[in-house]
Amino acid sequence: MYFLAIETSCDETAAAVFTEAPVVLSSVIASQTDLHARFGGVVPEVAARAHLQRLLPVIDQALQDAGVRLEEIGCVAVHNTPGLVGALLVGVSAAKMLALVLGVPLISANHIEAHVYACRLSAGRDIFPCVGLVVSGGHTSLFHCRTALDFDLLGATTDDAAGEAFDKVAGILGLGFPGGPAVDREAACGNPEAFRFPRAFLHDERLDFSFSGLKTAVLYTVCGKDLSRPAAPPAGAPRADLAASFQQAVVDVLVAKSRQALRRTGLKRLAVGGGVAANRCLRRALEAMTVEEGAELFIPPLSLCTDNAAMAAVAVEKWQRGQFAAADLDASALYQARGG
Ligand code: KG4
Ligand code: ZN
Repeated sequence: MYFLAIETSCDETAAAVFTEAPVVLSSVIASQTDLHARFGGVVPEVAARAHLQRLLPVIDQALQDAGVRLEEIGCVAVHNTPGLVGALLVGVSAAKMLALVLGVPLISANHIEAHVYACRLSAGRDIFPCVGLVVSGGHTSLFHCRTALDFDLLGATTDDAAGEAFDKVAGILGLGFPGGPAVDREAACGNPEAFRFPRAFLHDERLDFSFSGLKTAVLYTVCGKDLSRPAAPPAGAPRADLAASFQQAVVDVLVAKSRQALRRTGLKRLAVGGGVAANRCLRRALEAMTVEEGAELFIPPLSLCTDNAAMAAVAVEKWQRGQFAAADLDASALYQARGG
């Protein structure tokens, strides 16, 4: 049984082929970074148009890499929420058309649940129940994941997402777009204790996050409070120290809240997904924390952290339960999480 999956929620056009095991046979990702770099962020209309141009070649490539013919596909899966609605619609429309033409079931996959499922894919075995930490450009959330499809929200950011903070701070430091990998690289040769930046809610019972104050603290440190000098700091020690100190503040909070979530739920498994899970400092700190807590850490390889269509293999779980999408499946920008 072969599944074809499509991802177009933001600025990666992606397709994948996997089996019901699930085993991933191919995963093709066409990044749009080059298109958005000069704007310093993702432009929704540009993203949607690029998906339209690139999706069919990306699907062809995924089929070719997997050695599977289109007629052999038995189910089509697509991320339909959350994300940029115009971008999502391109993938959803293509998936509906393909399912209709092939006469096979259509399954909608939730992009956030899929980020956690990337851990299941890379582990090659069941990881549920677990605490799920999703840290991406649009989300920073902790979940009690009872099964692959049954999540209770434990806490979330009250303002910026962690990835968004990385991107904005990269802008402040003149490191360009996309910001996360640039800050990660710059921080590698910096002192994480050079600047003491705020760590919101660190000693709070709540499992929520806030990163906008941290971003503003970096801005004031770089430009001063009157903001009349918007110039980026020169390359070298101060910039590396700023990047490392900022990154350490984000990591400290993510690790502390994940620890609290493990203790509160009594679960001994932590699954981490989303683009920020690619951050090397975060990965090391989570490894150390989970060892201390006697918990197992599931964190995918970098290619499964950032956006991809392979993680839509969460659709296999729906297929097993007969949860198919209707032919009028819609895209939805917002994810309505169930409160825990
Ligand atoms: O999951 P993702 O690819 O897309 C969304 O669903 O949002 O996450 C993208 C985010 C961006 O904000 C990017 O800057 C961040 O992940 N990111 C990183 C790293 N690689 C990507 N943040 C910190 N360190 C990294 N190495
Ligand atoms: Zn994502």
